[in-house]
Amino acid sequence: MKKIELPDDSPMWHRDFQFGVATSSYQIEGGRYQRDDCIWDLFCKKPGAISDGSDGDIACRHIEKWREDAELIVSLGVDAYRLSVCWPRVINDEGTVNEEGLAFYVDLVTWLHNRGIKVFVTLYHWDLPQCLEDKGGWLNRDTVRAFARYVDVVASALGDKVYAWATINEPFCSAYLGYETGVHAPGITGVKNGRQAAHHILMAHGIGMKTLRACCPGGIHGIVLNFSTCIAASPSAEDMRAAIQADAYHNHWYLQPVLTGEYPDILLSLAPEERPEILPDDMALIRQPLDYLGVNYYSPTVYRDNGKGSFIAQPPRDVPVTDMGWEIRPEAFTELLVSLHQRYQLPPVYITENGAAMHDILVNGQVHDDDRVAYFHTHLNAVDEAMRQGVDIRGYFAWSLMDNFEWAFGYSKRFGLVYTDYESGRRTIKQSGFAYKELITRK
Ligand code: GCO
Repeated sequence: MKKIELPDDSPMWHRDFQFGVATSSYQIEGGRYQRDDCIWDLFCKKPGAISDGSDGDIACRHIEKWREDAELIVSLGVDAYRLSVCWPRVINDEGTVNEEGLAFYVDLVTWLHNRGIKVFVTLYHWDLPQCLEDKGGWLNRDTVRAFARYVDVVASALGDKVYAWATINEPFCSAYLGYETGVHAPGITGVKNGRQAAHHILMAHGIGMKTLRACCPGGIHGIVLNFSTCIAASPSAEDMRAAIQADAYHNHWYLQPVLTGEYPDILLSLAPEERPEILPDDMALIRQPLDYLGVNYYSPTVYRDNGKGSFIAQPPRDVPVTDMGWEIRPEAFTELLVSLHQRYQLPPVYITENGAAMHDILVNGQVHDDDRVAYFHTHLNAVDEAMRQGVDIRGYFAWSLMDNFEWAFGYSKRFGLVYTDYESGRRTIKQSGFAYKELITRK
């Protein structure tokens, strides 16, 4: 049986280092008719938008099965659980609070808190209320104000039972995939749209931080960003430049303004009509002191020059990949963390997501996912190495607790430590879940 192992002298054995598992609301909850619409409900209905034609109406039935899932989390021996709150489950289309929806989160968080699990709550993991999208969604500045109110409602209800809050999960995905390339909800395209959505989402982060500080002074507050190490396809000057540009456009576009109040210079290479509208106080709002930075990492991306002075991603060739087709290169994880540490004055870092989709098969009640165990082993060791090189990392969350709705790929990709049988709703701990538990138990 394969194991996940760390050296005996690993800084990750520090008693305050937290090992956790993560999920998000739309991906696991179901309970579609106990809340108002979010943008994914409508997007999933678009022909071809989701590869298997599915949606999150039922998902993992977490709304009904949350007690079983909470027991499962405890049984894995983790220190922490990262979840997200679904905005339209908490605020109705009329703007009133959905008391039943809010109570769901209060019960769940209280239960976990009472069992000694540190709860990490993300306020926005992509399920924008459709009623706000109907008024322009993240292209409309008013959504920023609506977000502040939503944060106030949730933070006031959950209060100090939450250990760590994150305003936004992966603004890159919401803005670039949702409003620039259109492969995620709400399916809008255009450079200007993507950049404007990103700007408003980052402003929502800023106003969210202020609200959290006022409502929950006892918690730690931050944002979760996703990063892909950008690697040049060749040592040519053109490809090296392409990789640097991609890094600026996809990674630093989100981190730099949050930490320094400025967008990367690549903004100026956009045509004026593609640049976001930025009003005088916006950047100061975006730049709020962070208690921590959440880093989501899965794989590196190789870029080459596109022949027009810009960059294009090159699909992995002859390298190990996950079931998503994402390259497996753990050294790139260390490289990313160390490079962020060298470039910025980073707050403490939590790895808020890391994991792999693999082609899992349930046989006789077991899933022998040695490939996923190997991924966790090498990537946890990559985190260990980054810590030895001076990066202040305080925790690591495996993505994901259980198989769930993988956005545009529907249920065709499995990321869980726990196997979800979507027909029966049955959960089965995979080999990787046992290996992760065994690792943590050694702490
Ligand atoms: C993410 C997403 C997750 C995905 C995971 C795998 O934050 O990108 O938060 O929802 O399921 O990344 O693609």
